[in-house]
Amino acid sequence: MSLLNPKVLMGDHNDLGSKTTQLHMLNKRLEYTQKYQKAIFDGQPNIIVANFNIQTLCDGNRAFLDFFGYSDVPSFLAEHECICDFFIEREGYLSTMMEGKNWIEYVKDNPGYSHYVLMKKGDKEHVFSVSVNEVHIENDKINIASFSDITELEGYKKTLEERIKSEVAENLNKDRILHNQSKSVQMGEMLNMIAHQWRQPLNAISASAISVSMKLELGELEPDDIREHLTYIQWRVQKMSQTINDFMNFFKPDQEVQQFRLNDVMKEIESLMRAQLQARGIRLHYDSRSPIVMSSYKKELAHVLINLIANARDAYEGKHLDAKPIEILLAQGEDENIHISVRDRAGGISPENMDKIFNPYFTTKDQGKGTGIGLYMSKRIVCEILKGMIEAVNTESGAEFIITFKNKYIS
Ligand SMILES: Nc1ncnc2c1ncn2[C@@H]1O[C@H](COP(=O)(O)OP(=O)(O)OP(=O)(O)O)[C@@H](O)[C@H]1O
Ligand SMILES: [Mg+2]
Repeated sequence: MSLLNPKVLMGDHNDLGSKTTQLHMLNKRLEYTQKYQKAIFDGQPNIIVANFNIQTLCDGNRAFLDFFGYSDVPSFLAEHECICDFFIEREGYLSTMMEGKNWIEYVKDNPGYSHYVLMKKGDKEHVFSVSVNEVHIENDKINIASFSDITELEGYKKTLEERIKSEVAENLNKDRILHNQSKSVQMGEMLNMIAHQWRQPLNAISASAISVSMKLELGELEPDDIREHLTYIQWRVQKMSQTINDFMNFFKPDQEVQQFRLNDVMKEIESLMRAQLQARGIRLHYDSRSPIVMSSYKKELAHVLINLIANARDAYEGKHLDAKPIEILLAQGEDENIHISVRDRAGGISPENMDKIFNPYFTTKDQGKGTGIGLYMSKRIVCEILKGMIEAVNTESGAEFIITFKNKYIS
């Protein structure tokens, strides 16, 4: 049975009866307890030092001696007074004096903070987390400081932090690339629209030029003819230039909340897209008398609608149908929510693609015809800017995209 067990002494005391033996046993027990406590002290993996008051070191455990390469505490004390002689001064770590206080007092006065110390073993810097406990033995005040080596943990933390930083940077970069690609898609749409808008005036200008040159060939060209044709060409060119300005203005993101009529947005979109839709036999239907007035990001909403209409237009590509309608339904719910649905009759989205269409770069279109950015960006605009949601469903004859968002913009 261990000498630490008080029963050993009590039991023996009754049997032995002699005071000398009892004293001997007490001494043995004291010695054993001291060895036991020293073993506990030395067995700790943390560096533990005891400082008399706040200054002189009076004891240190095995981990302490091993770290600094001393055989015992007196050899350490022959060269140093305190473990703080080894603190490496660096921002964020404890130094001997902190805000005018000795480090022990500082740690005790700030129990809510985590305290760290940097110390070197050989060439390698180690990071320790530090705690200090004050104990009173008779009239003496002893401060026990424990240093837990967290170098490895800090290493993991740093690696993790660096990984997070690089992932965030990568994501930002991806976001930037996506944003730029989305801009290119929009530019593509814009050029497409301009090309269609310009086709007719270009033909007219060309016809005018041909007429002038024919009259010249026939010797019938009068100065009035020239004047008339030049005025006409000038008027046409002005119109063409105006078209560019209209498109540029329309596609310039303004990122500001405005009050507008929903069908005014639709009218603007229709006038921009009419030429290219007509060329493909597609008709846009919407209630041009809809009274809904709303307050939101107008251009961002228009951007989304153009993407959805362009997708419906592409879905009709190569399909021979009697009618190719794109229906836009504008509605306001009782809860003030705006619902806009864009519906086509081009056959719909195949069920296996339904989950993927809002993913970036998902496209079923041939190379050069689609990048797969349109719906991804549309969803982000609806969710992040308009604070709403967008969903896609298949109807009997085609696809339907429904956008729902608050009428009054709430940030
Ligand atoms: N109205 C629709 N009918 C059928 N399929 C559609 C419709 N709208 C979208 N899709 C499908 O969703 C895919 C993704 O659309 P999204 O607008 O994101 O990209 P995209 O049109 O292919 O290319 P981008 O818009 O970048 O030019 C399309 O390739 C198509 O397969
Ligand atoms: Mg698209």
